[in-house]
Amino acid sequence: MPKRVPTGIKGFDKLVQGGLPQGAVILLIGTPGTGKTLFTLEFLYNGASKFKEKCMYVTLEQSLDDLREQAMQIGLDLKKLEKTGMLTLMHVPIHDLTTQTIELIKKEVKERKIQRLVIDSLSTLSVNAPVYTPIKDIALRDIMNYKAFFSPPILGDFVVKRFVYGFLYDIKQMGCTSMVTSEAPEKGEFLSRDTVSEFIADGIILMTFEINAWQTSRSLLVRKMRGTKSDSGVHGFEIASNGITVHDTKE
Ligand SMILES: Nc1ncnc2c1ncn2[C@@H]1O[C@H](COP(=O)(O)OP(=O)(O)OP(=O)(O)O)[C@@H](O)[C@H]1O
Ligand SMILES: [Mg+2]
Repeated sequence: MPKRVPTGIKGFDKLVQGGLPQGAVILLIGTPGTGKTLFTLEFLYNGASKFKEKCMYVTLEQSLDDLREQAMQIGLDLKKLEKTGMLTLMHVPIHDLTTQTIELIKKEVKERKIQRLVIDSLSTLSVNAPVYTPIKDIALRDIMNYKAFFSPPILGDFVVKRFVYGFLYDIKQMGCTSMVTSEAPEKGEFLSRDTVSEFIADGIILMTFEINAWQTSRSLLVRKMRGTKSDSGVHGFEIASNGITVHDTKE
């Protein structure tokens, strides 16, 4: 069994034999507002503070000040950890996304000896896959002349899939224990919008937000975890000012 990397999130690690497999790339899939960002922030916060692992958070979605503020809502003081050098936050604005972005991440991971990595989110990245895919590749320059190419489902079927394969492969090669967030489609036979990341990732955690009459609840399921005897149940979880708590049962 691979060495385990505990998330430190209350109630979660026992669902995966003590933690995530070291070096695994885990997809965290959920609809908007389910708690993906907070879950990954707590994974890194605990990693840096309790388990003394060097951590890096790459966001494509929010400014770093927004991220720090969001973390404070569940009691995580990121600034304090950033000052110790155990946690690095990196914001890649979507308009700055280029073919060099993955190289930039790789460089930082290597130089800072990062052990835990989060990318938030793959969906934002893959929407911008055409700008990210090397121009010399697949004669994209030529294809770009055809406007229709950029309309779904052709774009989704080709460039995005190709991009997602390449990106997750690159992340895996870095050797960190990684969490990559991804937006879930509202319905359909695939778990992710890009329809391929679920096959490439080493593990999948599915998060849902349910509305029952006047009440709302959140739950998660470990859908896949290579090299792990994982729990197959649906578990309720709560977000509160002292962090995330995963329950033994659905409620
Ligand atoms: N202290 C708190 N107590 C209860 N709920 C909270 C607290 N702090 C944040 N939340 C809830 O957490 C949710 C946000 O979670 P988060 O941003 O991690 O979701 P997400 O899945 O990343 O969303 P998105 O798809 O928009 O990126 C908010 O909807 C908010 O209601
Ligand atoms: Mg988010």
